[in-house]
Amino acid sequence: MERFKNGKQTIFWGDAIEALQKEIEDNSIDLIFVDPPYNIGKNFNGSQEKWSSSNEYLKWCYNWIDLCLSKLKPTGSFYVMTATQFMPYFDIYLQKKVEILSRIVWSYDSSAVQAKKHYGSLYEPILFCVKDKQNYTFNTDEILVEAKTGAKRKLIDYRKNPPQVYNSKKVPGNVWDIPRVRYRMPEYENHPTQKPILLLERIIKASSKENDVVLYPFSGTFTTSYVAKQLNRESIGIELQDEYVKIGLRRLQIADEFNGEKLEKEVRTFETAKQESYSRSQTLFGNEKQK
Ligand SMILES: C[S@@+](CC[C@H](N)C(=O)[O-])C[C@H]1O[C@@H](n2cnc3c(N)ncnc32)[C@H](O)[C@@H]1O
Repeated sequence: MERFKNGKQTIFWGDAIEALQKEIEDNSIDLIFVDPPYNIGKNFNGSQEKWSSSNEYLKWCYNWIDLCLSKLKPTGSFYVMTATQFMPYFDIYLQKKVEILSRIVWSYDSSAVQAKKHYGSLYEPILFCVKDKQNYTFNTDEILVEAKTGAKRKLIDYRKNPPQVYNSKKVPGNVWDIPRVRYRMPEYENHPTQKPILLLERIIKASSKENDVVLYPFSGTFTTSYVAKQLNRESIGIELQDEYVKIGLRRLQIADEFNGEKLEKEVRTFETAKQESYSRSQTLFGNEKQK
């Protein structure tokens, strides 16, 4: 297990269960966001995540879920994702241990594979849980969204005396329409299941305060740690694959090189094309001038 740290941001390079067992103090974390492998055969840097059976996968998950809960402060919040087919098991397991306050649907515009003979999957579920429903952080004012009915349509609530215009802002409901990270988006990194900054912004703003500690096992491209840093929170990320640890080190500005390799954002194909056409136009322009 290797540890990298710069100011409030820490990365552990190694197995999440081992890091949770050995490196993180009990009752020390304010917010945990877990986006684990889903047991659907994704390829993470050459390693295919697929367990021998659903039961084996769930056994593994229950292990890190219990560890996470032991790390969470009594006032802490726990957000967890998994594939739609496994979420009911997580839900039933967690009902006995914490208060599940929201069952969130992260919905997006299109699936990578366009289904032809069934209804394509256009959402991923997220559970929002707390240890104590009388005492937890929820910063309503930080996450308000426009209330589409109500003030925008200038509806009047005639039940009030005197009648009043409806509120123009509201706390988001539990269906979150947020686009997936696309190849051409500035935040894109080379990872098959990168989560959007907007998704993590809402979660971190709602469920933590400045200087709180955010724990992020299975960090991938370290989206949660990146957003935590922008919002002046502490973050602890854990990732197994060196290629993704390198993304984290760069994204969090912990290091600009790794084992002698300079850490630079991968150039995307359209950027190369742009660069090439720019160079070509410069050459042409240069040639014109010489004539
Ligand atoms: C669903 S992805 C996380 C994506 C991330 N939320 C993001 O925004 O980029 C799961 C990650 O867990 C990592 N992983 C798999 N097994 C692990 C383990 N035992 N310990 C730590 N990380 C692991 C994979 O390499 C992968 O990057």
